[in-house]
Amino acid sequence: MERSYSLLLLFLALFSLKSFNLLCSAADPTDGFTPVPLTEANFVLQKPYNVPLNERCSYEDGVRSLWVYATDKPQDPSSNTQPRTEVRITGLDCSSGVWQFEGYGFVPNGTSGVTVAQIHGAFHGATTLILRIYDGNMRYYSGDLVATDLYDKWFRLNIIHDVDGGRLTVFIDGEERYSTHDQGPGDLYFKCGV
Ligand SMILES: *[C@@H]1O[C@H](CO)[C@@H](O)[C@H](O)[C@H]1NC(C)=O
Repeated sequence: MERSYSLLLLFLALFSLKSFNLLCSAADPTDGFTPVPLTEANFVLQKPYNVPLNERCSYEDGVRSLWVYATDKPQDPSSNTQPRTEVRITGLDCSSGVWQFEGYGFVPNGTSGVTVAQIHGAFHGATTLILRIYDGNMRYYSGDLVATDLYDKWFRLNIIHDVDGGRLTVFIDGEERYSTHDQGPGDLYFKCGV
C-alpha cells in the first residue's frame, strides 16, 4: 500500500499589539508588537482519534513535526472532517485588538492539498483565514495565490489579524504577500499543522 502522507515542521510564536502606530517604513512585520510567551499549556494537539499522538507528532530541538496520512481517521469518531494533526493555540483572547502569528514552516515535496495555518472562528462561516499548500504554492483557501515555490525549505510565516479593523495580512519571509478583509468577529484562535 502506498504510504502517502503529509508533513509539516514548525516553530511557533505569537504577538499582540496594544497600541497601533503606523510606521512609514515597516522593516519587519513584528515591529511594534509585543511577544506573547507560549508554553505547552497553550498548545492543544488534534490528531486522528484512533492513533497515539507520538505516531503523528514529534518535538525535538524546538522543532515540532506533524504528519497525517490521507487514509487517517478524523479527530473524532463522530466527525466527517478531513484527517489532521494540528495545533490549536488556546488560552488567549484573540477576539479584539491586533494579533500576529509567527511560525517557521517546512513542507516537504509531495505534501499537497493541506491547510498549514488558519484562524478558526468567524462571524460568517467556520474560519477567518485558511492557508493551504498546493504543489508547493500557498493559497488563500483554494483560491488566491499567496506565495510560490515553498517545498523543501524553511520559510517564515507571519499573519497579522487586525480584528478591530477587519483586516488580514500575510507575510512570507518578512515580505507582505497578501492582504484581505476578515470574516467578522467571533471566537477566534490560531491553528497550524497539517
Ligand atoms: C517535487 O517532486 C517531483 C516528483 O519527484 C519533481 O518532479 C519536482 O521537481 C519536485 N519539486 C521540487 C520543488 O523539488
